Amino acid sequence: MFRTKTNGELRLSDVGASVTLAGWVQRTRKFGGMTFVDLRDRYGITQLVFNDEYDAALCEQANRLGREWVIQVEGKVSERSNKNPNIPTGDIEILVESLNVLNESMTPPFTIEDQSDGGDDLRMKYRYLDIRRNPVRRNLELRHKFAFEVRRYLDEKGFLEIETPILVNSTPEGARDFVVPSRMNPGQFYALPQSPQTLKQLCMVAGIDRYFQICKCFRDEDLRADRQPEFTQIDCEMSFVEQEDILQMFEGMSRHLFKSILNIDIPSLPRMTWADAMKYYGSDKPDTRFGMEFVELKNQQPDNASRELVDSLFPEGFGVFDSAAYIGAICCEGQAVLTRKQIDQLTEFVKRPQIGAKGLVYARVQEDGSVKSSVDKFYNAETLDALKQKMNAKAGDLILILSGDDAMKVRKQLCELRLEMGSRMGLRDKNKFSCLWVIDFPMYEWSDEEQRLMAMHHPFTSPKPEDIPLLDTDPASVRANAYDMVVNGVEVGGGSIRIHDAKLQQKIFEILGFTPEQAQLKFGFLMNAFKFGAPPHGGLAYGLDRFVSLFAGLDSIRDCIAFPKNNSGRDVMLDAPGYLDQSQLDELCLSVEQDK
Ligand code: AMO
Repeated sequence: MFRTKTNGELRLSDVGASVTLAGWVQRTRKFGGMTFVDLRDRYGITQLVFNDEYDAALCEQANRLGREWVIQVEGKVSERSNKNPNIPTGDIEILVESLNVLNESMTPPFTIEDQSDGGDDLRMKYRYLDIRRNPVRRNLELRHKFAFEVRRYLDEKGFLEIETPILVNSTPEGARDFVVPSRMNPGQFYALPQSPQTLKQLCMVAGIDRYFQICKCFRDEDLRADRQPEFTQIDCEMSFVEQEDILQMFEGMSRHLFKSILNIDIPSLPRMTWADAMKYYGSDKPDTRFGMEFVELKNQQPDNASRELVDSLFPEGFGVFDSAAYIGAICCEGQAVLTRKQIDQLTEFVKRPQIGAKGLVYARVQEDGSVKSSVDKFYNAETLDALKQKMNAKAGDLILILSGDDAMKVRKQLCELRLEMGSRMGLRDKNKFSCLWVIDFPMYEWSDEEQRLMAMHHPFTSPKPEDIPLLDTDPASVRANAYDMVVNGVEVGGGSIRIHDAKLQQKIFEILGFTPEQAQLKFGFLMNAFKFGAPPHGGLAYGLDRFVSLFAGLDSIRDCIAFPKNNSGRDVMLDAPGYLDQSQLDELCLSVEQDK
């Protein structure tokens, strides 16, 4: 046998046993005539001992070992005199009797330890070495367990895992596609799926009834900490269901995942309408680990989030507030202690171009209950007291106020400020989980870029039946049977009840600006299928990478992906994407200026 034990399993009860171990040399230490080697594999670290007195040649061989050499040893398990309580094998060591070098190694470019000295780029370039480190390997183990428990749960509920193709057609809407030229069909291209959305709907027409797939999806979009160009979805679809059935089924799956992986019992998921999420948190993915909900102090813009008008709490006097269409505020408990300098930093924070606020107004509630604000010269004590009452603020609290002429824009700015304050106040604990469903999304959102309504989710989402008449009169106000699952301010999944009626689908395409011919060309395959008895159906997809990185407490989904891309979409280890040979280009009928 190559090895009889792994490096993580020997304990005091094994003392006296003869074992064969294999692994990588983590480090060697020499103490007088003794040489100690930490031998590592996926399962742990075991200390090897070589004694000059017993076998000088063997000890000499051990002294030549370098970091990350691959070795095999035979020896006896012995109790350590100097125990290490920090590792499970810390009570024992191996008195080595023979050593076999299986492979030498170059000195690794960074230390393969929990706290590495390697920067991000270097670790990505040598990702196979990075994965030898415990924290990275642990994330991959967690990911495996997560996917395994997903399969266990869905299998138990009768879902079939079905693979759908990777070479498909480009579809309009959504993000940009990655495309693949077809050699056999010159001038034509496949696209990689942004999600298997239409294919899973066809599975429903095919009578599969309960489908799932843990699949790769590809989107050519700008990258962020929670976005990769290729990522993994847990994609699901069910027939003969209403929204409630789907929410129940997948709330159950989430509960199963939290319990089986983190041993956490999560309470039943609250539901929040999209309108409330925007009104109280300025985001369709509110971080509900903490309160600090928005209070509207003025709103002259009846929008989808806040249908009623709110008169200004402030009498005329301060030009900025007088001319604003919306004034919103948050109350930060116990934060009146912030110094002028700290508040100036917050002002700079909201004025950064990414956030775009013009300024920040603040009011401190002092120990005697009086209010001291940055707009004292415009308002009297009664107004400031009314502000305190409206904000439900008490002595020691800090009220932060933003205003502007576009309610949605100000809400988004206030959302950033709320999250920043939540972080500063230590309210965004990674070990605490707050999950919810956001429901009743609008069907459409206006695109300034395209100057038209776009599907907020995707064009196959069904409108709420009671809103269908509005499709003709006021499509922007139509709500969809769509829902997202949000955990700690991250959209981990989302889906909808689908349209299963070819005529309604046609109408939705029209509103999105497709002529019947264009719709037929792009989506004919789906609309034709719907003519052959499509069952009512709906589903959702989770972002596996996002869900796992939340479970692992990571800041970026990259850390739970074995071989991720960097922010420019490059795989620095493979050096992809790369150039093609002219002969390959010719074969694909592509003419490209290659600037090698
Ligand atoms: P959606 O586009 O909302 O829906 O995607 C579903 C989930 O996938 C994750 N996600 C991503 N994760 C990492 N990198 C990305 N670039 C990325 N983009 C999305 C998110 C998101 O919630 N077909 C529909 C689902 C459905 O209606 O059933 C869809 O793809 O966690």
